[in-house]
Amino acid sequence: MSGSAVDEEKRAAGYAAVDRFVHRGMRCIGLGTGSTAFWAIDRLGARVAEGWELVAVATSVETERLCEERGIRTVGLLEGPPIEVAIDGADEVAPDFALTKGGGGALFREKAVALAAKKFVVVVGENKLVRRLGKFPLPVEVVPFSARYVERELRLMCPSVELRMRAGAPFVTDNGNYILDCAFGEIPAPGELDHGLRAIHGVVATGLFVNLAAHVLVGSPSGVSELERASSKTNLPL
Ligand code: A5P
Repeated sequence: MSGSAVDEEKRAAGYAAVDRFVHRGMRCIGLGTGSTAFWAIDRLGARVAEGWELVAVATSVETERLCEERGIRTVGLLEGPPIEVAIDGADEVAPDFALTKGGGGALFREKAVALAAKKFVVVVGENKLVRRLGKFPLPVEVVPFSARYVERELRLMCPSVELRMRAGAPFVTDNGNYILDCAFGEIPAPGELDHGLRAIHGVVATGLFVNLAAHVLVGSPSGVSELERASSKTNLPL
């Protein structure tokens, strides 16, 4: 599929999330990071230009910048009204709506906003739907001081652990941390893995988002559809 067709699917999904889940009178919206969430930010900017009065909680410095460009006022987490809806992309979506996120490095704030929001809406293209999480290497955010220790511990449970680099130096998140990308292969129990990883001293957050997404909108060549959630029990055999 051409790049522009993929962009069109992302745009349609991002716009649909705002059109379906953000209503006039809502006072605070959580805004995600990445090329699909971008379109939700864009649509919300259009609503603000029409006179809707709301503020946003941004999940990254980049999203803050996009909000500023579009005249959307941002506030810190729970510094303003409650977040009625948060909209964000994902790197993988399992049938029970478990997600892998953090390809763009914004996982910590993305999870913070998703946890705080009354409703978390995910926007993706069809290519993000998987039977099981794990094809996309799992981002794990770590305190730089402990990066080597965490890497050593992770290697006991994961065959491939890579420190994320950018321009020859470790990639630094908006929180001043590093990211270890962990290729676990298939992840049959994301909640348990998330719990186990967070027990390692130095791990700040993982890109596993379990039991957070309420709705998933999927952009495809035939339009935008809302995915039906399968119970995690039915998400077993491949
Ligand atoms: C950012 O850290 C990520 O969690 C993104 O939400 C995720 O990578 C999806 O990004 P795209 O919509 O650009 O694929």
